[in-house]
Amino acid sequence: MTLVDQQLPDPPPRQDVRVWVCSSLEDIEAVYAIRHEVFVTEQHLTRSVQDEPDDRYSIHVLASLGAEVIGTGRVTFIGDEAQIAWVAVRGPMRGLGAGRKIMERLIEESRAHGSRVISLNAQTHALPFYEQLGFRSVGRRFTMSNIEHQHMIMELC
Ligand code: COA
Repeated sequence: MTLVDQQLPDPPPRQDVRVWVCSSLEDIEAVYAIRHEVFVTEQHLTRSVQDEPDDRYSIHVLASLGAEVIGTGRVTFIGDEAQIAWVAVRGPMRGLGAGRKIMERLIEESRAHGSRVISLNAQTHALPFYEQLGFRSVGRRFTMSNIEHQHMIMELC
């Protein structure tokens, strides 16, 4: 262990990340706050993140670490397909397992709903993140809001 390691606090254990399905207006406001921080301020992907198409027909999840809400994501059911979108973890809180736990919950909700396939449009920097969860790329890469994307799917048995 180096001197620097000795001075840094241990990272919080992954199991401390809690994920739940949004059920209140306060929850939805937290969803929009995280989306704004990540997709507007950080990535300049869009200017508005509120009332996106399908928001009111989707299941939204939030993740927290201690008292702090740190991540979000949503799944929308269309026929036998579940579409995952707007997955984001606040910058300083990445690498702690929140993204994985958010995705696992959205996948669980998709199974519970009886979906046969889950689809998403991944930013290509995050491909390994989705591949680790079992998604595979389908079709060609495309650019949306100046960010390269890749369509991915996961078949549920
Ligand atoms: N590239 C490669 N691997 C990645 C990765 C990336 N960008 N982000 C996470 N991973 C890996 C981690 O190393 C980890 O692997 P491990 O379990 O073997 O250690 C695994 O994926 C899970 O990582 P986790 O800590 O749960 O991810 P996270 O909380 O950092 O969240 C994102 C991942 C992509 C949600 C987060 O980086 C983010 O919000 N990015 C900005 C918004 C964004 O791009 N959203 C995706 C839109 S498609």
